[in-house]
Amino acid sequence: MALQATRPAPTHVLAHLSDTHLIAGGGLLHGRVDTAAQFRRALDRLEASAERVDALVISGDLTDAGDEVSYALLLEIATPVAQRLGAELILTGGNHDERRPLARALYGNDTDAPQDRVTTIRGLRILAIDSAPPGYHYGGFDDAQYDWLARELATQAEHGTILVMHHPPITYRSPTMQLLDFEETGRLRATLEGSDVRAILSGHLHVTTFGTLGAIPVLVAGGVSFADDAGAPRERMMAADGPQSYSLVEVHPDQVVATVVAVAEHERWPALSPEVSAYLDTVPQQELREVFARRP
Ligand SMILES: [Fe+2]
Ligand SMILES: [Fe+2]
Repeated sequence: MALQATRPAPTHVLAHLSDTHLIAGGGLLHGRVDTAAQFRRALDRLEASAERVDALVISGDLTDAGDEVSYALLLEIATPVAQRLGAELILTGGNHDERRPLARALYGNDTDAPQDRVTTIRGLRILAIDSAPPGYHYGGFDDAQYDWLARELATQAEHGTILVMHHPPITYRSPTMQLLDFEETGRLRATLEGSDVRAILSGHLHVTTFGTLGAIPVLVAGGVSFADDAGAPRERMMAADGPQSYSLVEVHPDQVVATVVAVAEHERWPALSPEVSAYLDTVPQQELREVFARRP
């Protein structure tokens, strides 16, 4: 028997992936990484973890070159997984995406307009907004997008709001990425002030990091395709085939908790010996904490 949780389960669980950089037709990213294989590996890990997942969120740079066939590949890989999990698929564009092919392939809309979407799951509102202005790699919203955000946030959702945007509105250590970061963080901060936004989920940095915008946590999921080696000197950005990751974002009534999951499966072993596990099975649930946590 497996140990049962002694704390209340989260109300919602979001699998937060980012920067899949999909390349259809078997091409390799940087001449090295099979991004479709990486994406499949990440989703295999997610399914193997037997998590109850409410949404599969992918926060931009869905494809590497913004071509329609790569968006089709994304749907081909992700849709069956989302269906098996019973999870909503929530996507937003990044600076490697192209708005019209994205809109056509994902939503059947022939338009250059940003595909900003509201998804509400049992009272949790998720706003996915495209932070990549056409023609640039840095991030920003146009006036209409700021208006859209303000309109949506004028009402509160039962469990609050999670904002999904590719460019994280925080200052990252890499001078290279600072050239490509989100402009007008002050304007965004003012737009979100007093709203029910509980967390911002972003990507773009290809590294797992956390920050704040005002009082709002900014949770950046590491890239699924490749990682920025944060152990390299900040002036010299180095891409690494590892440690790619995704995040599990657990929403509780009073907390949001993000846990990083490595895409690669490392050598592993049971952390509790079979004897301890068997013994714990005999302990009544209400005594587990006292029995297990007491130091000899
Ligand atoms: Fe990226
Ligand atoms: Fe990006």
